[in-house]
Amino acid sequence: MDRKTIFIVDDDPTNLSTTLSALEERYDVLTLNSGKKLLAALKKKMPNLILLDVEMPDMNGYEVIRTIKADKATANIPVIFLTAKSDSESEFEGLTLGAVDYIPKPPPPPRLLQKRIEVHLLVEDQKKELLDQKMELIKFNQNLQQMVEKKTKSVLELQRAILKTMAELVEYRDDITGGHIERTTRYLSILLDAMLERKMYIDIISKWDITLFLQSAQLHDVGKIAIRDSILQKPGKLTPEEFEEIKKHAIFGEMIIDKIKKRTTEQSFLEYAGIFAVTHHEKWDGSGYPKGLQGEEIPLKGRLMAIADVYDALVTDRPYKKAFTHEKTVEIIESGRGTHFDPALVDLFIEVADQFDKVHQEITGSNE
Ligand code: C2E
Ligand code: SIN
Ligand code: SIN
Ligand code: FE
Repeated sequence: MDRKTIFIVDDDPTNLSTTLSALEERYDVLTLNSGKKLLAALKKKMPNLILLDVEMPDMNGYEVIRTIKADKATANIPVIFLTAKSDSESEFEGLTLGAVDYIPKPPPPPRLLQKRIEVHLLVEDQKKELLDQKMELIKFNQNLQQMVEKKTKSVLELQRAILKTMAELVEYRDDITGGHIERTTRYLSILLDAMLERKMYIDIISKWDITLFLQSAQLHDVGKIAIRDSILQKPGKLTPEEFEEIKKHAIFGEMIIDKIKKRTTEQSFLEYAGIFAVTHHEKWDGSGYPKGLQGEEIPLKGRLMAIADVYDALVTDRPYKKAFTHEKTVEIIESGRGTHFDPALVDLFIEVADQFDKVHQEITGSNE
């Protein structure tokens, strides 16, 4: 075991040497004959304990201990007063100033003095051990918190990755070369910004979590997974029966999302996704599917997605149609004002249509 260090401070050389000889066998001892010398020595080395004489010329023991306790670096070193003044008044003063003990002079026989010092060093060790344990606990807690944060982040990443993959699967099935989902998300974002700027439908959208809104929109066509290739990828016009089949993708989408909902506790994201899936083909005049909802019965999410979705279907090639120009597309959407689409949203779309065009130029599929 490491030897402990003790500083003895006393102006009387006889006392110094008596105490020294009692302790030097077991401890590294440094003797100092004034408070000033002690303070200087403390700048170089921290003892485990200080034996401090009270009655000294120059700077007395009380002044010295005040200085030691006032300095953060030295405040925790235990100090034992060693003095001939053994009235209880000065003992009390020494203890209130932060001394851990008070040993009268002449010092007790070496073995008693050793014992007494040993006890204080032991207490000091235990204090340190407790402090170490406390620090370790704090560190442990911090680590735990970091782990939870990391885990949460990776779960969110996983969620995003699975989501993106599901959306891409739909895109591939649809024989669309990609970018459709990314673009519709950007279109929605343009509409949303424009609405916020104009405080349009603000009481509805202020309740939305925008990140969830944009992420969940990606799944609006997930129901197409359940539609046969022969219909989905038919190069020409669908028969009425085939179109009835394809219309089911809205309900299928909702069912698929419901299925995920039952298997997880994370609900709000799926809530949004379900609304997108089941309402994006409703029409303002009630002629849409699957429910034939009318006007503001159609959730705002569905009304927004209708514009974003149709815009993209029109400006790109589909297995069954060639791409229209941006201008022609704007015309078609405008002609659906109040029949297919929410008239207020069509007006808004026309104002920001240039931004739609920009996004489409920026993100294009490989076979365009
Ligand atoms: P989609 O290709 O993503 O089209 C989404 C929506 O864009 C369509 O919903 C429709 O409202 C609009 N849209 C697409 N092309 C045109 C167009 O040439 N003119 C006009 N005015 N609007 C258009 P809708 O009609 O409910 O169709 C849903 C999905 O059914 C389509 O998604 C597509 O996957 C499929 N589909 C629709 N019609 C045909 C078709 O004639 N042939 C094939 N193979 N699939 C079709
Ligand atoms: C929604 O948040 O989409 C439902 C509220 C509405 O559109 O009326
Ligand atoms: C795309 O979605 O990026 C391209 C669509 C298409 O080429 O039909
Ligand atoms: Fe759809």
